[in-house]
Amino acid sequence: MSKHRISFLTVIVAASMVGASMANAANSKEPIQPIAAVKAKNPALAELGKKLFFDPRLSKSGFISCNSCHNLSMGGTDNLKTSIGHNWNQGPINAPTVLNSSMNVAQFWDGRAKDLKAQAGGPIANPGEMASTHELAVNVLQSMPAYVAEFKAVFGSDKVSIDEVTKAIAAFEETLVTPNSRFDKWLKGDKKALNAAETAGYKLFKDSGCVACHNGPAVGGNSFQKMGVVAPYKANSPAEGRSAVTGKDADRFNFKVPTLRNVELTYPYFHDGEAATLTQAVETMGRIQLGKKFSDDENAKIVAFLKTLTGDQPSFKMPILPPSSDKTPRPQPFGK
Ligand code: HEC
Ligand code: HEC
Repeated sequence: MSKHRISFLTVIVAASMVGASMANAANSKEPIQPIAAVKAKNPALAELGKKLFFDPRLSKSGFISCNSCHNLSMGGTDNLKTSIGHNWNQGPINAPTVLNSSMNVAQFWDGRAKDLKAQAGGPIANPGEMASTHELAVNVLQSMPAYVAEFKAVFGSDKVSIDEVTKAIAAFEETLVTPNSRFDKWLKGDKKALNAAETAGYKLFKDSGCVACHNGPAVGGNSFQKMGVVAPYKANSPAEGRSAVTGKDADRFNFKVPTLRNVELTYPYFHDGEAATLTQAVETMGRIQLGKKFSDDENAKIVAFLKTLTGDQPSFKMPILPPSSDKTPRPQPFGK
């Protein structure tokens, strides 16, 4: 009897699920889903994180902020092959965008940070990036009464900690999503949002197999894949990818699949920044990931499609940062 009941209920649930998915059929059969707008769960926390993201005093030189390399006026990147940090040190790897980074399975090209909070402490203390220490960064913040008051209002304590700093930065980064791209409008049923070349480019993107790795709302960011599936990728950069984290030889040259959202803005491409243009990146991907040689026309259509993935960029009032106090440790622009 009770067994009967359960299966009857199951049927009802299953039937209503079919109904729901049919209502969504327009986009549920696509391998890419629209990005949903987000509202900060805790606006005061995100606002504090925004200040910290823009504050160069978290660096030893007092000159480099998160925004120096993840410029929110330029798609959340520095548009350099590889980033320049403390002492004009040129790093080994290209800066990925911070836009939509909350959708990543893990952070960094090799995924060595599990989430945005774990990531945010890294650059502050990286000698080649902001070159500070967590202790110095906290002392700098603690020396400014307006910051101390804001941390207290958000966290309830008089003592600033690096844990709070990284929480706030992560909360701000979670707001950096880019909904309303033309492609998302198309996915939601506005068939006029894309022109014929762009629609043909999307079809090529799907039919050629790009979507095997670049899928989901971020069009990537959700798996690690080999760079060079059917033909080797020749790189001069020392980066080994995922094997640096797992120690497994099988993971050598596996990198996090980058999001293709806003890819028009996030040049140059690949972990070593070697592809200067989208045309080049698409040519390389076709050749080494899929064994395909695209005609110039096909390549141009795929590029046209990729440019429809640019969404609404974060838009907000520039944060005004509290002035340093007499006690604030002074910037050390030169030397290790
Ligand atoms: C000197 C340039 C530089 C500065 C300053 C910098 N970053 Fe980065 N950022 C990079 C580079 C380069 C990478 C990629 C490193 C890697 O994958 O090994 C990166 C990676 C990231 C990622 C991972 C994105 C992804 O898709 O994997 C996030 C998030 C991020 N940075 C946020 C920040 C925050 C927050 C700050 C400030 C606290 C900051 N960065 C400061 C250059 C910089
Ligand atoms: C087997 C998985 C896989 C397939 C298939 C694939 N990609 Fe990629 N794609 C990646 C990985 C991994 C990277 C990052 C590689 C690196 O930088 O070392 C990448 C990077 C890119 C980039 C550069 C993004 C950036 O910000 O640096 C573009 C553009 C791109 N792919 C487009 C395509 C297109 C177009 C296709 C189909 C022709 C395609 N990909 C097929 C895995 C794949």
